[in-house]
Parts: sequence; structure tokens; C-alpha cells
Amino acid sequence: MRIEKVNSEQQMGEVAAELFKSQLSAKPGSVLGLATGTTPISLYDALAGMCAKNEIDFSAANTVNLDEYCGLAPSHPQSYRYFMDKYLFDRINIKKENTHLLNGLAEDAAAECARYDALIGSLGEVDLQLLGIGPNGHIGFNEPASTFSRATQKVALTQSTIDANSRLFSEGESVPGYALTMGIKTIMLAAKIVLVAGRDKEDIVNTAINGDIDPMIPASVLQLHRDVTIVMCV
Ligand code: GLP
Repeated sequence: MRIEKVNSEQQMGEVAAELFKSQLSAKPGSVLGLATGTTPISLYDALAGMCAKNEIDFSAANTVNLDEYCGLAPSHPQSYRYFMDKYLFDRINIKKENTHLLNGLAEDAAAECARYDALIGSLGEVDLQLLGIGPNGHIGFNEPASTFSRATQKVALTQSTIDANSRLFSEGESVPGYALTMGIKTIMLAAKIVLVAGRDKEDIVNTAINGDIDPMIPASVLQLHRDVTIVMCV
């Protein structure tokens, strides 16, 4: 595991963007696993800047996002599809049809999760997976549990996650209680993983990488992965 300590969010974005640039130079048709949350925004800004200067090319890439809220339409400003279009996809030269997210409106959640796992398998698994980390150590929406989750699934969000994410919703609007998330198994199958973390996440990152490997701290499973880079603001 490599830890890159940086002093600002902008630097965090630039360091992580270089990893994406190297990935796409080495393999233009890479499958990129992407994440939402406020932490990756500086990375997406850096990637958009590189793309504007023709320093990176997404034209052959595919993307798969980690998760989506249940019950939010793609047009809802808090849906992860809306977020990804706004912060990344509308600013780079990717083909929209190559950008994949779980459908939070699917009536049959199990079928939607199975579709997503099959899709990722058909793309040949993830080459570079971006992760953020929740205050309780969640990755994607894989919440603390008695075992590490496996396949893509529907999950009930914990109160801590609902509280943490409520800052992004307007007043009076409630955070959905459920989400669909890529499972830990798929995340761990990615060839490379990059986790970005702001200053507010220093303690939980330290617990995850130095403490026991414990499904109550989902990110601790990353200790078992052979190629993880953590870019953290200190
Ligand atoms: C959400 C996402 C996670 C993300 C987390 C942290 O819960 N599902 O993938 O890592 O938020 O977000 P932030 O970067 O805003 O702290």
C-alpha cells in the first residue's frame, strides 16, 4: 500500500489525476471505477483540466460507478448520475453510453444488481477503482457489517451515513434510506485501487490501514489488496 500525503485538496486531485492519466496512456480502453462524494471533486476538476488541454483521452474508456441511491431519478440533483454528469462526464471526451451507473429506480433491485455485476464482468473487471471513505469506514455504500459484503446489492444506509450525507440535500428533503452498491468482492477484483481522503478522514483512514481487518471497518479490507494508493490530505 502506498500513502501519498498532500497539503491541499487541489494537490490531492492533481496527484490522483496523474494516476488516471498513466492508466489511460497505458490502456486507452480501461474500465475506470468511479466514486461520488465531495472528496473526488478536485480529482474530477483536474481530469477536466487535463482533457481540455488534450493531455488525457477518455474516448475509449468505460466507467462503472460504485453506487446509487434508491428512489432518485437521474435528473434528481442528489442522484449520483446527476453528480457524475455535472462534475465529470459533461466535461471530458467520454462517450455517454460508456458511462455506467446502477439504476436507483429499478423496481427489482436484485435483478438490477445482477445486471450490473454481469456488465462489469463483460467489460473485463475494473482496471482502476477510485474510492472515497465514509466517516464510519464505508466504501461505496458497503456499511459496517458482520462480514465483508460480496456481490452488488441493495443496502440499508446507517444513521451515521444518512447524517453525513444530509449536508448535500436541501432543507426538508430527506436522504434516501437505501442504496444499491457495488460489493466489496468486485472492488477487491479491481487491478488497482486509489482512495482519496480529506483531512476530516485522517482518523478513519489510519484505523482502516493500521488496525485489524474487520468488516465493521469496511475499508480495512484494502489491507488485503496488492495495489492500493491512498492520496490523503494532512
Ligand atoms: C458517500 C458515497 C461514498 C463516499 C462517501 C464520502 O457515502 N457513497 O462512496 O466515499 O460518501 O463522501 P465525502 O467525500 O463527501 O466525504
